[in-house]
Amino acid sequence: MLGQSQFKRLRRLRGHPVMRQMLQDIVLRAEDLVYPVFVRSGKKIRSAVRSMPGIFQFSPDTALEELRALEQTGVKSFILFGVTDARHKDAKGSAAHDTDNAVCRTLELVRKKNLELYAMTDVCLCSSTSHGHCGILSKNAREVVDNDATIDRLGELALLHAQSGADLVAPSGMMDGAVAAIRHALDDSQFKHVPIMSYAVKYASAFYGPFRDAADSAPGFGDRSSYQMDPRRRRESLQEAQADLDQGADILIVKPGLPYLDILRDLREAFAAPLAAYHVSGEYAMIKAAAREKWIDETAVVLESLVAMKRAGANLILTYFARQIAPKLQSDSRAQSP
Ligand code: PBG
Repeated sequence: MLGQSQFKRLRRLRGHPVMRQMLQDIVLRAEDLVYPVFVRSGKKIRSAVRSMPGIFQFSPDTALEELRALEQTGVKSFILFGVTDARHKDAKGSAAHDTDNAVCRTLELVRKKNLELYAMTDVCLCSSTSHGHCGILSKNAREVVDNDATIDRLGELALLHAQSGADLVAPSGMMDGAVAAIRHALDDSQFKHVPIMSYAVKYASAFYGPFRDAADSAPGFGDRSSYQMDPRRRRESLQEAQADLDQGADILIVKPGLPYLDILRDLREAFAAPLAAYHVSGEYAMIKAAAREKWIDETAVVLESLVAMKRAGANLILTYFARQIAPKLQSDSRAQSP
């Protein structure tokens, strides 16, 4: 038989539940989570997203109810995605700039009703363009989207959101120079204090499929690979992150979540800036589908996924599970306190 000194007994510290808990170095809090909310114009709308059970498109009035319910769970922040009715879409995505659109109306309601949530907005054109791309089309077939014409529009869009009451804006279209254009637009109009959380590292991913159902934003032709990143490139993520930090980004998003933890870790090691992970729609849909079949324990899988993102280096996590999972985190911490 081997003597004790010949191997290390790591199990010694796993025997007692208190010791196991004391040694946890990753803590997941409701405050870490950001809840994505889809809004469209109208009243009393609560339209289920087929591929995302539990997720709905809301009109501003019902979004307010959803956000009130969110407040009760301990989650402190949400991010709005505007959905445009098909008949209001056009080649330039004009509906996004309408001061009366669902994003602006919802922000105004949140302010008027004094919700204490931190309001973020997704800044992109894809749900209001008739072709579904994230910007204005280019005449140059290889570029698909005209970068420089698009970033001017994104600056205006971010300003509109800030004027309507957004606390933070999040450009998601992967246009070069978008962060600089938005920073200028905000600074020139007394919104120096509004941070930019940039989708700096956004891969061209099949995991966004259900979101495109939810936002009605699937590209009408081609794909997004002329602006989103190739999953087969690793180090480009550092270039993207550096470029956005140089332009004034305050927080960087890595997207998708679980399949890109290596990238999140690369960024964590290279930069001091706060990082966010986006636990995207396809990840949500897969967990929901497997749980519906009773093949996995939904709550356990969600908690483990979110902890993994924190462990890889995320400060914040954008997740469709925020509202559902936050009460479990609260009851965990109640159980811990005497
Ligand atoms: C808009 C945008 C997308 C997502 C967030 N912002 C879709 C896309 O790039 O096609 C995806 C979010 C998700 O899948 O949950 N540009």
